[in-house]
Amino acid sequence: MKLLIKNIGMLATAAGTSARCGKDQGEIVKMNNAWIEVEDDKIKAFGEGAAPAGDFDEVIDAEGKLVTPGLVDAHTHLVFGGWRQNELGLKLHGAGYLDILAMGGGIHSTVKATREATEDELYAKAAKALDEMISIGVTTVEAKSGYGLDPENEFKQLRAMKRLNEDHVIDLVPTFLGAHAVPSEYKDNREEYIRLLIEEMIPKVAEEGLAEFCDVFCEKGVYTAEESERILKAGQEHGLKSKIHADEIENMGGTELCAELKAVSAEHLIVCKESGIKAMAEGGTVACTLPATSFYLGAVYAPAREMIEAGVPVAVGSDFNPGSCPSLNLQFCMNLACLKYKLTPEEMLTAVTLNAAAAVCRADKIGSIEAGKQADIVIWDAPDLDFLGYRMGSNLAATVIKKGKVVIN
Ligand code: NIG
Ligand code: FE
Repeated sequence: MKLLIKNIGMLATAAGTSARCGKDQGEIVKMNNAWIEVEDDKIKAFGEGAAPAGDFDEVIDAEGKLVTPGLVDAHTHLVFGGWRQNELGLKLHGAGYLDILAMGGGIHSTVKATREATEDELYAKAAKALDEMISIGVTTVEAKSGYGLDPENEFKQLRAMKRLNEDHVIDLVPTFLGAHAVPSEYKDNREEYIRLLIEEMIPKVAEEGLAEFCDVFCEKGVYTAEESERILKAGQEHGLKSKIHADEIENMGGTELCAELKAVSAEHLIVCKESGIKAMAEGGTVACTLPATSFYLGAVYAPAREMIEAGVPVAVGSDFNPGSCPSLNLQFCMNLACLKYKLTPEEMLTAVTLNAAAAVCRADKIGSIEAGKQADIVIWDAPDLDFLGYRMGSNLAATVIKKGKVVIN
């Protein structure tokens, strides 16, 4: 199957097979009047000027539009039961995210709804979210468990993800987040739940190949840095690479663990300090920032510019979940990355493509338009890259190509 995309007004892509940091995050390839040749599921060649002649099974005229790699959403809590619209009123009356959690709401109410849902119900609900994601140009999605908080229900979530990965056009990257909260039934015996995580759940998740990463919510009232370290190290012993939810609301020293753990990514980082930035730089960690969560929580924004200046590669994800970010709109996050983090459109593009791919250890396969990479490509209803940071609230993805096939048009 040979496909040609011709008449591209602007082709914009980061380049390489690993995360780009510092000045390099904003140094991308831009071509005007460009073309891309795809063979089967891979990019064969691309260039500027006259499109190659040849026998193509399909030719797409991009009509002068912007073309980029498919977006990678490197942080979602995709699979969950119910919603939490009831918390909006509490929020408007001044209750904080951690207050609601401490009252037994928040994550705990989604745990209840997730436990009550069947695997098929979770699957169907998440499939609907994935349909929306592909329609806005997202071609790979990281998905975390963490609303089961017991072996049966964590596995139910992970199995739903496995089936979605097999059935849905979007590629999923599964993360085990059994340490998303301390389940209410272990409230007075948290050490026993940590034992269950380390001795039973992590080994079984790894053995069954249900996750690639292990993540912990290192937060006040959730897991301490010391507990996070033990859990993530246990994950590593079983081959699960480390991610950490750190510095979302309170500074707990979670980001500072990155150097020693060589964590693949640290996520949220809203209140990240200089010591955390230094530890990420030392650990070769990708900073996965989530601006729509700051927006929804009414919080400050992660110091993404400082991270770039310090040589830490910055990725931007959605954090789609029913509590702190009931939006999966990565295009909105791209606006916020420019407007609130002050990323240039070039840095922002790298953040949602190549660096996001690096945050899920896929930068060798996806995240850029280069020969040999998977043909995950978006044609935008936009004349240039600036337009993606500038226009807001409308879906600008016009055509989405996944593994060389047009899936949205
Ligand atoms: O990334 N921080 C922890 N987890 C989610 C929120 C989960 C929830 O509230 O349901 C987050 O913000
Ligand atoms: Fe999260």
